[in-house]
Amino acid sequence: MKAVIHDRYGPPEVLRLEDVERPAPADDEVLVRIHATTVNRTDCGLRSAEYFVSRFVTGLRRPKRKILGMELAGEVEAVGATVSGFEVGDEVFGVKGFGAHAEYVCMSETAPLAHKPTGMSFEEAAAVCDGAALALACLRKAGALKGRRILIYGASGSVGTAAVQLARHFGADVTAVCNTKNLELVRSLGADSVIDYTQDDFTKNGETYDVIFDAVGKHSFRRCRRSLRSGGTYVATDPGLMWHTFALAVLTRRIGDKRVAMGITKYTKEDVLLLKELIETGEYRAVIDRRYPLDDVLEATRYVETQQKTGNVVLTVISDRS
Ligand SMILES: NC(=O)c1ccc[n+]([C@@H]2O[C@H](COP(=O)([O-])OP(=O)(O)OC[C@H]3O[C@@H](n4cnc5c(N)ncnc54)[C@H](OP(=O)(O)O)[C@@H]3O)[C@@H](O)[C@H]2O)c1
Repeated sequence: MKAVIHDRYGPPEVLRLEDVERPAPADDEVLVRIHATTVNRTDCGLRSAEYFVSRFVTGLRRPKRKILGMELAGEVEAVGATVSGFEVGDEVFGVKGFGAHAEYVCMSETAPLAHKPTGMSFEEAAAVCDGAALALACLRKAGALKGRRILIYGASGSVGTAAVQLARHFGADVTAVCNTKNLELVRSLGADSVIDYTQDDFTKNGETYDVIFDAVGKHSFRRCRRSLRSGGTYVATDPGLMWHTFALAVLTRRIGDKRVAMGITKYTKEDVLLLKELIETGEYRAVIDRRYPLDDVLEATRYVETQQKTGNVVLTVISDRS
């Protein structure tokens, strides 16, 4: 099968398309023929080993797993002997963690994989799980959201677009902060109020929030703590300079009346099923910025690394339109 390989850490140019052996499902696995996958910030971080610590998982000197790609949507091509939840021909979507930048992947039937939401294309379904998983991890750190005011900074990214929709689902009053060109988009995702960060500085307008969620790693607790209400929480997606977010999380548990927390992605089948339900009830949709064929993974990766994508970048393995 065709797959995108990287056998060393480095810039996007370490990626290359190669023919590799097609995986065969174990007894408890399904073989998925991938129609679409994505390039996201985690793929880029693992490839470049942006945080050295990731090498303790992915391989100290060289990547142990040579095929990146977390999210996928496709069709079940074969099932292992003990699989009962999926059948050949089922359309599925989910998140694997690695291996999805390829034509086929094997996943355990208990993995974060579910039947594709009705009426959703493979390309859209591929772009659902990763941003939403981190958004869910962060929102859960903030506690119950019903009736509370949340400000989402970086609301137009993959995590941000997911967070706006999920915070709305959890009953929060959502203020979304983004660039002028994305104001309409975040409004359409359900934001109650929007702030254009090129025109207004939310830390200076006198408004206060129960939760401030920096969904793009561009703000800080120090700069926005006055906009947090007493008992409020600042939630971050990034560890920050010298990993100070973790230190602040520990410190603010003991000192002061405003907390800092950091979301760590956890992929579960339950969350994939929750997202499927929200999509089918019209409460959630995937935002896609650009689509590239798998062969153009390098271009796609370079674009993701501009940190300016809106929502998600899809890699099409089999075109929905073919
Ligand atoms: N903790 C984890 O496990 C984990 C895993 C993956 C990713 N992450 C982190 O999660 C964060 C979000 O990832 P993502 O994939 O959602 O990011 P992304 O899609 O690359 O974010 C792009 C968006 O960020 C916005 N943006 C860029 N510069 C900005 C600025 N200075 N102020 C406000 N918005 C700005 C842009 O919106 P506008 O055009 O509107 O400016 C763009 O739409 C990143 O910081 C990433 O490092 C964490």
